[in-house]
Amino acid sequence: MMKHESIETNAGLLLVLTMLAISIGGLVEIVPLFYIDETIEKVEGVRPYTPLEQRGRDIYVREGCYTCHSQMVRPFRDEDLRYGHYSLAAESQYDHPFQWGSKRTGPDLARVGGKYSNEWHVQHLVAPRSVVPESIMPNYPWLLENDLAYSDIANRMRALKAVGVPYSLTDDEYQANVEKFGEDVARLLDINNAEANLLAQAQAGNYDGIPGRVTEMEALVAYLQVLGTMVDFSRYDEDYFVQFR
Ligand code: HEC
Repeated sequence: MMKHESIETNAGLLLVLTMLAISIGGLVEIVPLFYIDETIEKVEGVRPYTPLEQRGRDIYVREGCYTCHSQMVRPFRDEDLRYGHYSLAAESQYDHPFQWGSKRTGPDLARVGGKYSNEWHVQHLVAPRSVVPESIMPNYPWLLENDLAYSDIANRMRALKAVGVPYSLTDDEYQANVEKFGEDVARLLDINNAEANLLAQAQAGNYDGIPGRVTEMEALVAYLQVLGTMVDFSRYDEDYFVQFR
């Protein structure tokens, strides 16, 4: 029988056997994917972000929140207990680029929507230690000072449309969205009304607590509050998701 020592002392043989092991491992990982029709779970409720949420997401990326926060609940019991149901592929299908991440200096944010009030978020973002004394999160006071720049929102949505997010420009695209998401949502995804929709949501939601002004904080809080809230998990058995794994 071949001794392991003879492999370790023969670089050529080690190389060949290493390649073999990696190839088999690779095939085992990749081949099953050819036999699955769909890796995105079929669930109700997931929609692209509204113009205001999308601007909030841009600010999230600009400020580098992802350097400390992931947005993917792993399928482990401890994560499930802390954050809720593990993240589905469906939930980030309209994220470009996705914010899964692997760095958690702070907690995962994939399901933070609805966990706190808007007021809490504003206070926490301006001065984290005023609500969580032991926090090491930086202060972001300028979010409340800066007015939100949104005159380019239609172009931003066009860019996302080009990579597959179903924002609508034409009547046909609008009708397709009505069928897919319902009329109320379809209206929010209409690029032609992007600015008006953004303002209306800001006014109705008053996420930053400052009526009459639309700050960067407004958009960011609107975004945080929608994270993880689109799928109603009580409607699905855990078994349902197994077929997509
Ligand atoms: C230097 C790392 C760091 C950065 C950068 C950072 N955070 Fe945090 N964040 C933390 C830590 C640590 C906590 C936990 C303590 C606390 O609640 O403040 C936290 C907590 C949070 C919470 C509360 C989560 C929960 O479930 O309790 C939210 C929401 C949040 N951060 C949002 C943001 C946003 C939005 C940004 C970008 C504007 C950001 N964070 C940037 C470290 C960071």
